[in-house]
Amino acid sequence: MSQPTIESILQEKRIFPPSSDFSRTAHIKSLEDYQKLYDQAQANPEAFWAELAEKELHWFQKWDTVFDWSNPPFGKWFINGKINISYNCLDRHLTTPRKNKAAIIWEGEPGDSRTLTYAQLHREVCQFANVLKSLGVKKGDRVGIYMPMIPEAAVAMLACARIGAPHSVVFGGFSAEALRDRLIDAQAKLVITADGGWRKDAIVPLKPQVDKALADNACPSVENVLVVQRTQQEISMQTGRDHWWHELQKTASPNCPAEAMDSEDMLFILYTSGSTGKPKGVVHTTGGYNLYTHITTKWIFDLQETDVYWCTADVGWITGHSYIVYGPLSNGATTVMYEGAPRASNPGCFWDVIEKYGVNIFYTAPTAIRAFIKMGDQHPKARDLSSLRLLGTVGEPINPEAWMWYHEVIGGGKCPIVDTWWQTETGGIMITPLPGAIPTKPGSATRPFPGILADIVDLEGNPVADNEGGYLVIKYPWPSMMRTVYGDENRFRRTYWEHIPPKDGKYLYFAGDGARRDEDGYFWVMGRVDDVLNVSGHRLGTMEVESALVSHPAVAEAAVVGKPDEIKGEEVVAFVTLEGTHQPSEELANALKQHVVQEIGAIARPGEIKFTDALPKTRSGKIMRRLLRNLAAGQEVSGDTSTLEDRSVLDKLREGN
Ligand code: WTA
Repeated sequence: MSQPTIESILQEKRIFPPSSDFSRTAHIKSLEDYQKLYDQAQANPEAFWAELAEKELHWFQKWDTVFDWSNPPFGKWFINGKINISYNCLDRHLTTPRKNKAAIIWEGEPGDSRTLTYAQLHREVCQFANVLKSLGVKKGDRVGIYMPMIPEAAVAMLACARIGAPHSVVFGGFSAEALRDRLIDAQAKLVITADGGWRKDAIVPLKPQVDKALADNACPSVENVLVVQRTQQEISMQTGRDHWWHELQKTASPNCPAEAMDSEDMLFILYTSGSTGKPKGVVHTTGGYNLYTHITTKWIFDLQETDVYWCTADVGWITGHSYIVYGPLSNGATTVMYEGAPRASNPGCFWDVIEKYGVNIFYTAPTAIRAFIKMGDQHPKARDLSSLRLLGTVGEPINPEAWMWYHEVIGGGKCPIVDTWWQTETGGIMITPLPGAIPTKPGSATRPFPGILADIVDLEGNPVADNEGGYLVIKYPWPSMMRTVYGDENRFRRTYWEHIPPKDGKYLYFAGDGARRDEDGYFWVMGRVDDVLNVSGHRLGTMEVESALVSHPAVAEAAVVGKPDEIKGEEVVAFVTLEGTHQPSEELANALKQHVVQEIGAIARPGEIKFTDALPKTRSGKIMRRLLRNLAAGQEVSGDTSTLEDRSVLDKLREGN
């Protein structure tokens, strides 16, 4: 693990307080109100969460104990409480004026669109839950979801939640190989997919990838595949195993009461990258996750009844789970789902969607903002964006220039920006401005959400001084924290709780990010301190890409590092040594890039392959990635090189650069 570097990334020194207009109607109206909530939560977290759980959610049966931490790091929330998140997202709105309010507004490609009201969504979900049941899916069975950004993805998730079958959504851009690994690890009983989906002006095949993942009985647990007809190209359907969604949905009963789930029953598994080759299955449970995503959506996005809310993430990532589907629907909001992505052929696509639906709250990633900056101000300027009242970002640190552009060009200088720091593991947003209360500083995620005790410490767990870099930790459990790594409790302990050992019996959650806190208590997240890259806001393990590379017959060894990239944040650079008589060539470099796409997916495609005779290693055989990072970025090699086994390797790499 490398020590986070301490550098000030702040070039914009101005502070942006919320306007009094915004604060007046906001859920949390002032810094004092925020501080009051924060102090209250810190003084008695259990009372704080219990009060919100009671007020904000429907429970079939109330819990006996708010929180159990008798077996750390395995926490439990709302013990013996009975709840169903699909009920909270749907049924409870039907007896209110929200019944015929738009729940999901979907903007598809090319030019398709569809709106589902709460009543319609409820009906679809109930019917689909019955389809799942008819195929033998029971409470506790895992269901794989590999879908494009279409309303059926949300229907599938909610239907699984309704009958208590944990879903495992796999991003539609992942390869058949990546899908297979995840289906095997989760032991999925059924897979829901589509014939294809739209990605940047082209149809990407999905069902054929599922066929490939399941070929040769590679996933024996999978009994059935459900296929949504989306792009209408020819696909093959295996009799007995594969079924068309629309055919079964048509005859399914719309009557399906939500299962009373235990608060701690598993809601979903979502795979994410870590420091080792194999992605880990992050497990989230029901009650705590429902509460935390609900209240963070409400307060951070300051949701009001008439708001049109749009988060541009994909449901394949945690942001899509928490802030397209569960958080907004639990609040009875109108959530926009968009199938497209920013691209040169349609440089105004996001702004068109905002104008078309009068979006009020817009949540996206810095990488998208930077891509739009490059495409030019003329595109947003040609659209009416005056409906916007709040902007958000997530996924990586936002550079102050991008923040300022977002603020001025998109927000017209009047919208607060919530820069939200969180992770797949945290379930919901952890550090963020509350938009009516906390003045923002471009580039800072500002302050922890009430109930979140964030700190910056050294490797012994000692707090570091203001403005000194260190490791970001959370000192007290929160309701939506991950419960374990699916099937691997030791990995859960090792990854999150042992880098920094418990201090005075108190457990510190290790986030894997470096950060500093300034004199105003504002957090500045600097990026990962482990071997995890952040490419266009997507998490990617260097070891995953390395294993993909060495599975190619020409490759002997591979070391992957991130190189700073203006748009993507980081780009994948691979240093590769070749087997036997293989010779470096551009064709081979391209073949290796394609091989990584094949093994993982396009998000992992290396930007550059650097062939080398040897990799720089320590005497104990560890690859010195720090040196490779310097070389990839075209910088002088910095820091200690005395542990290098063979200095000439470094000299050669430098020459080749
Ligand atoms: C990074 C995405 C700086 C961070 C929700 C974290 C951020 C990883 C921010 C989690 C932010 C996320 N500022 N860095 N506002 N938000 N990150 O699991 O490195 O896909 O550890 O969850 O993204 O990525 P994940």
